[in-house]
Amino acid sequence: MDIVEEARRVFPGGVNSPARALPHLPRPLTALRAEGPYLYADVGRLTDFCMGFGPLILGHRPKAVLDAVREALENGWLYALLTEVEVELGRKIVEHVPSIDMVRFVNSGTEATMNAIRLARAVTGRDLIVKFDGNFHGSHDYVLVKAGSGAATWGTPTSSGIPGDVVRTVIVVPYNEPEPFMRAMKEHGERVAAVIVEPIAANYGLLVPDRDYVKLLREETARHGSLLIFDEVVTGFRVGLGGAQAFYGVLPDITTLGKVIGGGFPIGAFGGKREYMSLVAPSGPMYNAGTFNAHPISMVAGLATIRELERGDAYRIADSAASLMAEGIEEIAGAKGIDVSVNRAASMFQLFFARGPVRTPEDVRKSNVDRYLSLHSVLVRRGVYLAPSQYETNFTSAAHSEDVVAESLSAIRAALDEVK
Ligand SMILES: Cc1ncc(COP(=O)(O)O)c(C=O)c1O
Repeated sequence: MDIVEEARRVFPGGVNSPARALPHLPRPLTALRAEGPYLYADVGRLTDFCMGFGPLILGHRPKAVLDAVREALENGWLYALLTEVEVELGRKIVEHVPSIDMVRFVNSGTEATMNAIRLARAVTGRDLIVKFDGNFHGSHDYVLVKAGSGAATWGTPTSSGIPGDVVRTVIVVPYNEPEPFMRAMKEHGERVAAVIVEPIAANYGLLVPDRDYVKLLREETARHGSLLIFDEVVTGFRVGLGGAQAFYGVLPDITTLGKVIGGGFPIGAFGGKREYMSLVAPSGPMYNAGTFNAHPISMVAGLATIRELERGDAYRIADSAASLMAEGIEEIAGAKGIDVSVNRAASMFQLFFARGPVRTPEDVRKSNVDRYLSLHSVLVRRGVYLAPSQYETNFTSAAHSEDVVAESLSAIRAALDEVK
C-alpha cells in the first residue's frame, strides 16, 4: 500500500491539517518516530526545527514527560471528574502568567481563542473584534478573517462557509503599525469588545514588535473600554514562564494558551482576571464545556514539561540554539552575498530572503518566498527540517545542543549553494 495514495483517498488533500501537505516537496513526508531533536521520516533522519509547530520545547519524547505519561496511563485516562493534576497545572499557570487569576482548560488553541472572544463579548456586551493582518488564532469562524483592501478594513473571510454576519463583526488592521490601529480604535473603539493579538507573531514568519507598540495596544484598548486578548498559544511558556506578557511587561485582560502547556498532547486554555473568569459556566452565563477539557494525559504531560522548564536549563539551551542558528544563518548568507534577514525571539527564529529588517506582514510578502521553499526542500534532502512554510516559525528545544546546531548550519551552508 502506498500510504500517501491511500491518504489521498480517505482524507481531503491527503492530510488532516493543511500545513502537512507540503506541496513544494515531491511527496508529503511520513513520520515514523522521533527522539530529541530528530524526526525519523520515510526520507530518513531530519533535525527538526518545526517541533510539532511549537509544543515540543523539551525536544521529542523527553524522559520526564514519557515517564509521567506512562505512569498516568496505568491509572486510566478519562474520568469526567476533577483531578489533582489539573489543579496542579492550573496553579502553575496562575503562578507564572502575570495576568491570569483563573483559567479554563480546553482542547486546542482554536477553542481557547474562540472562548476568549466569547468571554470578551460577554464582559463588554459589545460585538466587534479587532484582529491583525497576518496573526493566526486558529480555525473557528470569528478569526478566519483576513484583511480586505485598504489599510484598516472590514475583513474578508479566509475560508468559505463563514457567515457574512460573523465577518461583519471583525475589523482587520495591519500588524506592528501604530497609526492604522489607532485610527480603527478612534472610529470603532466604543463598539469593540476585544482586540486580539499575537504579542509576538509566529504565524507570518516571526515578527517581533517593540515594547512601545505592545504598550500602545494596552493603552488604546483601556481608553475605549475594550478588552485586550493576548493570544499566547505559541509564546506562552515558550519565551519564558511568564510568556510574552512578562517579556514585554504589558498585561492583557485575557490570555490564551496552548501548545507548550500540554507537553505535546492536545491542549488549550484561556484565563484572566477573576472578575472576568467568574462569568464562565458554571459560575456564570458564558458557556463553555468539553468532554475532553483538562484531559488527564495532557495535564500530566503539561505539568511534567513546566516542572522541567522551571529548572531553567531547558530555556537556556533552547534559546541559545535559536540565537546560534539566527547568527549563523546571517553570517553564512552574508559571506555568500545572499540577502537574508533573520528574526528571533527566545527559542524561535525565522529567516527571510530579504534585505533589511522584516517587521510587518507586508515586509514578509515582499521577501522571496519561493526561495524559502526551495531552501526547505534542499534541506530535507540534507537531513534538516525547517518550518515548512515561510509563514511558519522555526522552534528550537532543550534537545538542540551546540553540536546539533553546528551540524544544521553546515547543511544550510551547503544548501544555500543549491537554492534557486
Ligand atoms: C497563535 C496561535 N493561536 C491559536 C492557534 C490554534 O491552536 P490549535 O492549532 O491548537 O487549535 C495557533 C496554532 O498554530 C496559533 O499559532
